[in-house]
Amino acid sequence: MEQNDSVLRLKQLREELHHHNYRYYILNEPLISDYEYDKKMAELIDLEHKHPELTDANSPSVRVGSDLSSDFRSVPHKYPMLSLGNTYSEEELRDFVNRVEKNIGHPVTFVCELKYDGTAISLTYEKGMLVLGVTRGDGVMGDDVTANVRTIKSIPLKLHGNYPELFEIRGEIFMPHVGFDQINAEREAAGELAFANPRNAAAGSLKLQNSSQVAKRPLECFLYHLITDTPPANSHYETLKTVQSWGLRISPHMQLCRSFDEVFNFIRYWDNARKDLPYDIDGVVIKVDDLQLRDELGFTAKSPRWAIAYKFKAESVFTQLLSVDFQVGRTGAITPVANLNPVQLAGTTVKRASLHNADIIAALDLHLNDVVSVEKGGEIIPKITGVDAGLRQPGSPKVAFITNCPECGTPLIRIEGEAAHYCPNAVACPPQIKGKIEHFISRKAMNIDGLGSETVALLYQQGLVHTVSDLYRLKPSHLSGLERLGSKSAANIVTGINESRKVPFARVLFALGIRFVGETVAKTLTQAMPSINQIMNATYDELIAIDEIGDKIAGSIIAWFADSENRRLIEDLQSFGLQMEAINNKQEAASDNLKGMSIVISGVFSRPRDEFKSMIEAHGGKNVSAISSKTDLVLAGENMGPAKLAQAQKLGIKIISENEFMQLIES
Ligand code: IVH
Repeated sequence: MEQNDSVLRLKQLREELHHHNYRYYILNEPLISDYEYDKKMAELIDLEHKHPELTDANSPSVRVGSDLSSDFRSVPHKYPMLSLGNTYSEEELRDFVNRVEKNIGHPVTFVCELKYDGTAISLTYEKGMLVLGVTRGDGVMGDDVTANVRTIKSIPLKLHGNYPELFEIRGEIFMPHVGFDQINAEREAAGELAFANPRNAAAGSLKLQNSSQVAKRPLECFLYHLITDTPPANSHYETLKTVQSWGLRISPHMQLCRSFDEVFNFIRYWDNARKDLPYDIDGVVIKVDDLQLRDELGFTAKSPRWAIAYKFKAESVFTQLLSVDFQVGRTGAITPVANLNPVQLAGTTVKRASLHNADIIAALDLHLNDVVSVEKGGEIIPKITGVDAGLRQPGSPKVAFITNCPECGTPLIRIEGEAAHYCPNAVACPPQIKGKIEHFISRKAMNIDGLGSETVALLYQQGLVHTVSDLYRLKPSHLSGLERLGSKSAANIVTGINESRKVPFARVLFALGIRFVGETVAKTLTQAMPSINQIMNATYDELIAIDEIGDKIAGSIIAWFADSENRRLIEDLQSFGLQMEAINNKQEAASDNLKGMSIVISGVFSRPRDEFKSMIEAHGGKNVSAISSKTDLVLAGENMGPAKLAQAQKLGIKIISENEFMQLIES
């Protein structure tokens, strides 16, 4: 192809693909097959490689995302991103409608829309091109997630028709059920934590640092609020219809309602029909349709007076309780879990529900085979919220809390003031032993590569590892003979275990799995008491004198070290060379240069940000994420976001470079 021809072809392909995206993602009326589409895309990508001078941030090919990782720039919203007043009650909704009509002086037409349960986004289009995508943030400032937004196929990069030169449009980014289930299945298979719900999955995905990862997440978007100096119509309903003609995907299922009854019928309909939607909605948004009336009504400090969200109560279904299992966690806490007759709830099949503790079971007066109502709150594990005692079969036995550990038979104990039952047999109860080892090797603790829960179970079963200190006695020869472990993985595991001897003291303390001593508490403790001997011999009073250490934590630490088995474990670990003193703390003592300072890090540096974070902490400062009047210092790398820069300047906060920072801590 002649040079000119290929440039023309490239441009033509971009136009064509923009149009096919519109037909496919917005209208749901594709004109060509996926195969033909993919072929065109491949041709475009190929031509773009050959013509880097024709780079276009809005080319249809950017849908696949970039591999560059970005640190989000914080940008101010031109108009604050407010939230909506909300209600769960029909009466309050009636009050809202009456209030609006009284204010205006005559009956008003409302638009009812679905309330999508995702994460809010504000898009800016300039000359028909997507130029900016910003999250809500705190409503005043948000994160610039443009690169990520560009990978979402239902957000057009380029518009057509008669759009205003410059406008902002807001909407919701969400993840449909099918994609959510698939992502979670993949995460679980990879041993990663599953997302609790599609909303978290959408919000988390949008904040990924790598847009090519975002491109793989099945995100979608509906738009519902146009902001422009040149509105295309006088009513919201007409505005959205017009917006649609520019190629934007608007909120579907919206309806004009001319009375409270019409509004409430819409709500009733969708409260039932939502279970058939392929995505989550959590209510209905009711908005005044006439834009001039909206201006008359105005805003309160927090939300518009012309709109309200009616929220649905959590969805619940009835099903039968089949049995109750009792699980033993690594701390010995017993969790009762209900096995249910599988039932569809909020888009997923529910087979199990948490029963939390003995008090909850007693309060429900739960009997085996009861018909129970199951509800899904914000969490992935649903809960049992009620029992239909009227349907109880005569003679069904009451669900009794167990008295002995289901794993080791030890009588359970209940600590005063606590809801949970515990198995006190910490040293010999198998799930507690395995759970402690799994916690010890986990990423945030000793981070031992190559060891997973299956291998831990195997090592335990073979009698090779009984306490975490046994790990340091392992030799490659112990491992290589085991089922599924070759000599290479055996060597890797031993290397991982050896490497863990360098893990800093705070993480070792966390890895021990003392109740209530999480990551943060472990850090606080090691800062106040930088050696294991100090912590081990500390009195209750000395412990609670430490900031953020209260009665519960202090009591748990004292009890843990009072146990001679645990003291022996510490001696063992010490003999294997684990870090039992905070080395950094000693260096810290050498510099108080940043003592008490709140420091914001922004921009790109010559080495990873985490290193600056650690240096700040090591020299007595605190790393905070947002600039406020309380910030003392901004450590600015290259390409610091202009909004952050402006804000720091406005507040008169000192801004220093990487070099100046190094001088400051080394002085
Ligand atoms: S209108 C000023 N319409 O719900 C008006 N919001 O609780 C802005 N939401 O912040 C909002 N679906 O994130 C509007 N059809 C819809 C919506 C919707 C979901 C979200 C949005 C908003 C929050 C308010």
